[in-house]
Amino acid sequence: SLVYSMDGKYIVFRGCRFPKASHTLESLRYAVNFQVRDDDLFAVTYPKSGTTWMQEILPLLLNGGDLTPVQTIPNWDRVPWLEETRAALVLGDRASPRTMVSHLPYHLMPPSFFSSKAKVIYVTRNPKDIAVSSFYFHQMASFLDDPGTFDEFLDKFLSGEVLFGKWTEHVKSWRNLDIEDRILYVTYEEMVQDLRGALGRFAKFLGKEFSQEVLDMVADHCQFKNMKNNTMSNYSLVPKEFMDSSKSPFLRKGVTGDWRNHFTPEQDARFSAVIKEEMKDTSCKFPWDD
Ligand code: A3P
Repeated sequence: SLVYSMDGKYIVFRGCRFPKASHTLESLRYAVNFQVRDDDLFAVTYPKSGTTWMQEILPLLLNGGDLTPVQTIPNWDRVPWLEETRAALVLGDRASPRTMVSHLPYHLMPPSFFSSKAKVIYVTRNPKDIAVSSFYFHQMASFLDDPGTFDEFLDKFLSGEVLFGKWTEHVKSWRNLDIEDRILYVTYEEMVQDLRGALGRFAKFLGKEFSQEVLDMVADHCQFKNMKNNTMSNYSLVPKEFMDSSKSPFLRKGVTGDWRNHFTPEQDARFSAVIKEEMKDTSCKFPWDD
C-alpha cells in the first residue's frame, strides 16, 4: 500500500512531491509495480536538468536518426515518464526495447528495476541553473504553486519543498550504487558544451555503433533552437491554461550559467553553503564546482 498525503497541488509520497496534474495514486502504484525488462532504458533526471532534451535525443539515436518519432509523437508519449499517468496508457503494449524517463530518486524505483539489467543515463545540472529554470517553470505552469519571489523560491528549493524533493538527495541517491556498470552519468553542461561528444558516450554505453552522419544529424536536430521549433517537443500542444508560454516558454534559454543573471552575491553564498554542506560526504565532482 502507498503511504501518501495530499498537499495542495501535490501528492506527497515517501518524501517526494508529485504534481497532481500528471500523477495520481494509480500512476504511482503503476510505477511501483512496473515490470522492468533487461533491455529497458531510463533517462533519470531531477526536474529541469534536461529531461526533454533526452526525450529528443534517445529516440533519434535508437532509431538510427529517423525523424518520424520526434516529428509525430509528443515528447511525453514518445519517451514517457514512468511515474506519470500516461505511462500505463503508452507503455502497456509497447514492444521492447523501451525508453522511459523518470524523476524518481533511486530508492523509489520499482523493485524489478534492481534485479534487472536495465540501463540508466542520469543527467545532472548545476542546481543554481535548475533553480532558475524551475522558478520560471512555476510561473508558467498553473498546476504548480506560485513560486513567490526568487528569494522565497530559493528557500523552498534548498529545503526540498519542491517537486521531487531536494536536489542533493536526488543526486546522492543515484550515486555509489551497486548498478555501476549500467548507469552513465552526464551533465547538462557537458551536453551544452559538446553534444556530439555526449552522443558518442551514449552510443558506447548502449553498446551501439552509429555512423558519423547519424551522430551529426542527431546533434544538429537536438540543438536548442531546433527543438524550440518542434511542436512535438516544445510543449505548445499543452493548452495555455496549463502552460502559458507567454509568461515563460518551456524551452526557455537552454544555456549554462543563467543563475549569474538572477542570484545576488548573498543568495549565491547561501545556496553554495547549503549544497556544499549536503554534498560534503560524497566524491561528486561537477563541472560547475569551484
Ligand atoms: P532553461 O529553463 O534554463 O532554458 P527539463 O526538460 O528537465 O524540464 O529541463 C528543461 C530545461 O532544459 C530548460 O532550461 C530547457 O530550455 C532546457 N533544454 C531543453 N532542451 C534543450 C536543448 N536542446 N539544449 C539546451 N537546453 C535545453
